[in-house]
Amino acid sequence: MNRKVGMWIYTNGGGDVIANKITAKLHEREIDTVTGLDLRFAEAKNDFVMCNGTNMIDLDLFFSYNAGEQTVGQIYMYEIVNDFIPTINSFKSFQLSEDKFRSNMMLSTAGVKTSDFFICHRESHDGLYDKLEEWGKMVFKPIDGWGGAGMALLDTRDKFDMLMPFINQMNIRNIYVERFIQNDFSDFRIDIVDGEFVSCYGRQASSRDWRTNVSAGGKIILREPTDAIVDIAKRASKTLKMDIAGVDILYDTEREEYVVLEVNGIPAFATPEQEKRGLNFNDKKIDLIVEMIDRKTKK
Ligand SMILES: Nc1ncnc2c1ncn2[C@@H]1O[C@H](COP(=O)(O)OP(=O)(O)O)[C@@H](O)[C@H]1O
Ligand SMILES: [Mg+2]
Repeated sequence: MNRKVGMWIYTNGGGDVIANKITAKLHEREIDTVTGLDLRFAEAKNDFVMCNGTNMIDLDLFFSYNAGEQTVGQIYMYEIVNDFIPTINSFKSFQLSEDKFRSNMMLSTAGVKTSDFFICHRESHDGLYDKLEEWGKMVFKPIDGWGGAGMALLDTRDKFDMLMPFINQMNIRNIYVERFIQNDFSDFRIDIVDGEFVSCYGRQASSRDWRTNVSAGGKIILREPTDAIVDIAKRASKTLKMDIAGVDILYDTEREEYVVLEVNGIPAFATPEQEKRGLNFNDKKIDLIVEMIDRKTKK
């Protein structure tokens, strides 16, 4: 009997084309696929987790790749499914990558350079003032944020104090801050699949923002990788045991070193427009993913 792999892949920005290519390449290897498995709509009982007519725990593997449509219910079921079958990424790694504090803690203790960071409870936050003094400038950020949203650049006590009512209103218990890394407002995005280097590109912040995110006005730039960057990205991916990782790196112009900013578990493929502008890594990424699925499902 053929192997069978379930998938849930984003469909916007060319995702549907990518999903079709992955499906076709898996079929060439006699691996059947079921697509559109949004676990938000799964139902479970004693011995099955049913999603769109598919019993998830009978699959050989589940490939979850839809950053934009995640929900609390879907994430919960993802964890349950991974109790029974392999998933890409593993639920544990996915969860780590969704938490900037936890992942930075893992990276930092494993010797992978991150920004300096600090976290404390909002009711005893004097330590934050000491950090501000020490660092001069710091970044307040939600540990599970994306797209540069909800962040604040703080360089005075007053600015931090002004943030407190917001922190209380949002019921944020633990306040997470990072040392502001002096940089040229551009970053590197390195994709790693199955431990292999896939691609390197970057984003350049708009002149009005210190954040490089495209949603903050940043634009994609072509960038040549260096051995040092590829090495740090591979080590970050390995430390968090990621099957697929998009590692964001800044160059600290003050300390003259590369710093891992965050590791994304669902790094986007190049959109059709980006492909036209020279980001041509999609096929390589697809091949590595297909090869990895094949290996992980071999009986
Ligand atoms: N510690 C920092 N020092 C300097 N710039 C930062 C720092 N943290 C974040 N940034 C800027 O903000 C952007 C978004 O931060 P990031 O941690 O990647 O969160 P998100 O998940 O929202 O993308 C980064 O791409 C970078 O340009
Ligand atoms: Mg980022």
